[in-house]
Amino acid sequence: MKRRGRLGFHRGEPNPKILVKTPRLSVTTARVAIAALTLVAAGCASSSSSATKPSLSIEHIMEDGFKGKESLSARIAKGQGSAEDFKKMAFLTKELALNQPPKGDLASWTEKTKALKLAAEDLVAGKAGALDAYKSAVNCKACHSVHKPD
Ligand code: HEC
Repeated sequence: MKRRGRLGFHRGEPNPKILVKTPRLSVTTARVAIAALTLVAAGCASSSSSATKPSLSIEHIMEDGFKGKESLSARIAKGQGSAEDFKKMAFLTKELALNQPPKGDLASWTEKTKALKLAAEDLVAGKAGALDAYKSAVNCKACHSVHKPD
């Protein structure tokens, strides 16, 4: 008798403690879930911002893809680029665009590197006019005169 009274099960009434406790528990659960989601979202945001940092320096990209008469870029500009060459150039120019210019303003850098990157992507996709777009975007002197330190 005494035990039943303490638990509040008189005449089959629902236990008020359970009624009160259940919504509290779910609010707590929701809070925990929201906190977890916030953490996940914060994690995503920080990992995506680190993904926009270049993994190659401008010097490396220039040496690897642009320098000299036999370079990857020279081969492509002569119309002798292979599918592999286009892919590599799309990667190098994507990396180039992620770099900050050592000289000159960012708007000019973004415009030049984006044009180059898009042309390389269009070469990969086999789009008409991609080679001409590439040749005009890969103007060494136009970029160096503004962005290459002496
Ligand atoms: C969109 C801009 C841009 C284009 C296009 C470009 N370059 Fe460069 N290049 C640079 C910048 C910026 C530097 C200077 C990097 C530094 O000193 O940090 C550089 C540096 C170089 C260097 C020196 C690398 C080193 O080891 O310091 C060479 C060689 C070079 N470029 C060759 C070329 C050639 C050849 C072309 C054309 C086929 C070309 N670049 C097109 C931006 C460009």
